[in-house]
Amino acid sequence: MSTERPVSRTTVPEIAARKGGEPIVCLAAYTAPMARLLDPHVDLLLVGDSLGMVVYGLDSTLPVGLDTMIAHGAAVVRGSRRAIVVVDMPFGSYQASPADAFRACARVLAETGCAGVKLEGGAEMAETVRFLVDRGIPVMAHVGLKPQSVHAHGGYRYQGRDDASARRLVADAEAVAQAGAFSVVIEATAEAVAREITTRIPVPTIGIGASPHCDGQILVADDMLGMFLEFTPKFVKRYGELGTGIGEAVAAYAADVRARRFPGPEHCFGLRMAAAKSA
Ligand code: KIV
Repeated sequence: MSTERPVSRTTVPEIAARKGGEPIVCLAAYTAPMARLLDPHVDLLLVGDSLGMVVYGLDSTLPVGLDTMIAHGAAVVRGSRRAIVVVDMPFGSYQASPADAFRACARVLAETGCAGVKLEGGAEMAETVRFLVDRGIPVMAHVGLKPQSVHAHGGYRYQGRDDASARRLVADAEAVAQAGAFSVVIEATAEAVAREITTRIPVPTIGIGASPHCDGQILVADDMLGMFLEFTPKFVKRYGELGTGIGEAVAAYAADVRARRFPGPEHCFGLRMAAAKSA
C-alpha cells in the first residue's frame, strides 16, 4: 500500500476564483518529463498547439491534429499531480459548429484526463463556448493574437493597435466571458487594451505579451528555458539557457566517445568479475 499522501489538483473553480488575487502561474508544456519538472511550481499547465512549431518543427499551428493534441495532453496529465491541465483545441476541430466542437472537446476530456480545453476566438465563438460550458466542458478562451488566424492577421502581429481594434478585442473578451469561459488568454495585445479587458471581465485573464496587470501569465516552457538558439519573441523573458547547455553537453559526449573515454569502467557490466578471475 502506498504511504504517499494524495495530492489534489487545482480545479477550474479554484482558477476562476483567483480573479484579482494572487497571480496565476501558467506554462505551456507538451511531454510527461517536462510536466513533472514544472508541476511543483505552476498553477496551470497548458498543452498548447504551439507544440506543432516547438516539437514538430512546423511553420504554424494550423496542421496540428486532434490525435496529436490528445497524445500530448494525456502525457502531460500523467506527468503532473497538482497543476490543472488544459488542452488546446487544434485548428478545424471546433470552428464548424457547436456540435462538432462538443464531440472533439469530449474526446479531449475523456481521453486525456485534462480539466478543460482552450479555444481561440471572441464574439464569433461565444455561442460555441456557451454550448460547451452548458454541457460540462470548462473552456478557456483565447483573444488578441490568435495563431490559428495567422493568415487573417497577416502575420504574427500584436493586436489592438488602433481604437477600432481595441474596442473589438474588449468586446471579444466580454463575449466569451459572458458565455461562461472560466478564464481568457490574451496574446500579443497592446498593454492598455489587455489592462482594460482585465478590469472589465469577471474571470481571470492570462497574459502572454499582454500586461503585468493580467490575473496570470503564461509562457511556453521551451521559450523561457532558452531551448532555442535562434529568435525569441519580444514577450519572452529567458530564465535559462538550456539550448547552450545542451550544445555543450553533447559536444563533451561526442569528444569522449571519439577519444574512447566513454563508457568508463563504472558504466560497464561484469568488469569486476573479469578482473577477479584474472587475479
Ligand atoms: O499554444 C500555446 O502554447 C498557447 C499559449 C502560448 C497561450 O496558446
